[in-house]
Amino acid sequence: MCEVHRSVFTEMAYICQKFQDLTTNDFIAVSSSNIVDKGSTTWRTPSNIALVKYWGKRDPQLPENPSISFTLNNCHTITSLSFEKKSKIDKSFSFKIIFEGEEKPSFQPKILLFFERIVTYVPFIRDYDFVISSENSFPHSSGIASSASGMSAISMCLMQLEKMLNPTISETYFYQKASFLARLGSGSACRSVKGELVVWGEHKEIKGSSDLFGVPFTSEIAEIFKNYQDTVLLVDKGEKQVSSTVGHDLMYGHPFAKCRFEQAYKNISKMKSILEKGAISDFITLVEKEALTLHAMMMTSQPYFILMKPKTLEIIQKIWDYREVKDSNICFTLDAGANVHLLYPKNEKQAVQIFIEEELAVFCQNRHYIHDEVGSGAIELTGL
Ligand code: DP6
Repeated sequence: MCEVHRSVFTEMAYICQKFQDLTTNDFIAVSSSNIVDKGSTTWRTPSNIALVKYWGKRDPQLPENPSISFTLNNCHTITSLSFEKKSKIDKSFSFKIIFEGEEKPSFQPKILLFFERIVTYVPFIRDYDFVISSENSFPHSSGIASSASGMSAISMCLMQLEKMLNPTISETYFYQKASFLARLGSGSACRSVKGELVVWGEHKEIKGSSDLFGVPFTSEIAEIFKNYQDTVLLVDKGEKQVSSTVGHDLMYGHPFAKCRFEQAYKNISKMKSILEKGAISDFITLVEKEALTLHAMMMTSQPYFILMKPKTLEIIQKIWDYREVKDSNICFTLDAGANVHLLYPKNEKQAVQIFIEEELAVFCQNRHYIHDEVGSGAIELTGL
């Protein structure tokens, strides 16, 4: 190899290596060059829906298998973070939480735990009095998990503060670290920073993928998967029967866990090829199988749970019937609860939405459902 080529090659190999080898230490904020006494920032971040599921984690918030999700658009959280330098700096955290206009001391422990987990990476959070004001676009008691959008929104705000303190940070670092912080709040939240498809968890076929943060899926996807639609059918608006934390824990010592993690890894490879090729019928099979596998893991854990409700199954049957009779490409997925996400290509939007209103709404609590679609991730709203 000639010298010039060799040095270019070496440099590229180094960059690739560097990119892949990002470690937690790379996310420790360097001491700030700017003085920021007070200010505020506002971000809007969406929820996401996993196609290949994350279920099972190890400390500290690292996934047992890679997952991939569509970032949503309409189901989102808007968070404003106001900050003012403490009059006397100490080691404690000082924050007040306002949720939908009301002070919420009950959210305090969750945010405190989050701050404790991230303080090594954003040590400046000890220096400020914060007011965190949040609102969700979806009703609070809708059974839609708000942790993904909520934790990613706070993370974006904190990164904005880090950027004010240190304006030299790159855009790549800004978003990767936002995802890294969000992960420490709630695993799936790291997939809510960017759009439109995000992979979280190391996988040999996904360049730059990491257990530490989500990365956008950058392969060219087939036309049919662009602007994908998701209608959330709200079967059960109550509190989740099993919290994610408890659910993930049940994977420890689960007799099928190892097999499941291997399957999910393989399913990422399958999903990559499906999205690139536009293999819609394989997509349907894989997405539904992933949802049912997640639930099967919960049905076979100790203790065991059935997270679906009778109406969940009635909806699934209706979806299958409709797909067959109408030669449609609709399919369903589920989170760890009873609500159904109905996924469909944009070209079926009109017909499917009529079907939902006429045949599925009856199975939803108060006929409540939410139309959503794939979106592009976090948006800054400061000053708007
Ligand atoms: C079923 O991200 O809510 O939605 O990391 O404990 O906050 P924690 O769990 P969480 O788990 C989400 C699991 C899931 C599948 C998924 O989104 O991949």
